[in-house]
Order: sequence, then C-alpha cells, then structure tokens
Amino acid sequence: MDLVDIIKNRRSIRQYLPRKVEREKIDTILEAAQWAPSASNKQPWHFIVVQDPVTRTRLGQLHPHGRFMKQSPVVIVVLGNPEAHPKYYLCDPHQAVQNILLTSHWLGLGTCWMGVRGASFEDDFKEILGIPESYTVICSISLGYPDQKRRSTRLSLKEIVSWEQFGKTE
Ligand SMILES: Cc1cc2nc3c(=O)[nH]c(=O)nc-3n(C[C@H](O)[C@H](O)[C@H](O)COP(=O)(O)O)c2cc1C
Repeated sequence: MDLVDIIKNRRSIRQYLPRKVEREKIDTILEAAQWAPSASNKQPWHFIVVQDPVTRTRLGQLHPHGRFMKQSPVVIVVLGNPEAHPKYYLCDPHQAVQNILLTSHWLGLGTCWMGVRGASFEDDFKEILGIPESYTVICSISLGYPDQKRRSTRLSLKEIVSWEQFGKTE
C-alpha cells in the first residue's frame, strides 16, 4: 500500500476479532507516535497502553461512544502535558494520534479515535489509570484486528479548498 492508499482506506473500526495484537506491532505503532512532529520538539505527550480486560471494560462503560473498548484487545490512551508545552500540549498529541491510526492500518489493524478531553468522564479516566492531575486526557484509541469493513465519505475538494483567496476557485 502506498501512503495515499493508507490515508484514504483507513476507517474507524468499532468491531474487533478476539485476536491478540503482537507486541512488535504495538511497538511499531508507539514508535510512529514517538516520531510525530511537535512545536519546538517539546513532545508534550504520553501514551498509556491498556490491555487488561477489566480496565478496558471500565473505560468502555464510561465512554458513551466507546463501548467497544471492552472488545478491542488494546486501548491506547493519549495524554497532553501542559508542563512540556503550555501552548501546544493539545495540538501536538493529535499529530501522534494520526500516526497511530495510519501505522495501525498499514499493519492490518483497525483503530477508532474517541475524544475524551473536556468530557464529564475525563477525571474518571485519570483516576482509573493513575494519571497525574497536570496531564490532560486527549483521547483513547481502540486497537485490534478488524471484524468489520466500513465505508466513509468526505466533502469534495471544491467545498473545502480555495485558491489564492477564500472562496476563489481555480
Ligand atoms: C476528535 C475525534 C473524536 C472522535 N470520537 C469518536 C467517538 O467517541 N466514538 C467513535 O465511535 N468515533 C469517534 N471518532 C471517529 C469519527 O466518527 C470518524 O473518524 C468519522 O466518522 C470519519 O470516519 P472514518 O474515520 O471511518 O473515516 C472520533 C474522531 C475524531 C477525529
């Protein structure tokens, strides 16, 4: 698969096979996150890999749109660290998230990105995972071998792109 195929064919996966994800694949995915760009290379992020089924179930019960964390064999919880970069601690971890999604797809794995920051259950995530108060829980990502095929759509380029000035077509 070339890079553009990987980008275009990645879908959010919400059903998973009961198949273990190999440790080498998890490591490759974490390395992809590690090498994301960040403002001034401050890397204001942290990643918690959750495989324990009891913990995954608890996270899935808390997240109204993330019940499938119970089913996915891995959940990666992504944190932002304001002490590492007070301005970009929200933005930079998202670059890492995208690397995680794309690398997982390249490895034949499915993912789904679930927002957590600012949700009523963010503090519950912190308590369950022992996250220090200063960190923000950006999102959680389910990860595993897909048990569904999905389609998606996007706005056309005409709708989202201007040339030279806003609203100007080519
Ligand atoms: C910031 C953000 C938060 C999201 N939160 C959820 C979520 O809580 N639950 C979920 O099932 N999908 C969630 N998604 C996945 C989107 O629904 C999905 O990316 C979108 O519908 C496009 O589908 P695709 O990823 O298959 O192309 C989230 C995606 C983003 C970027």
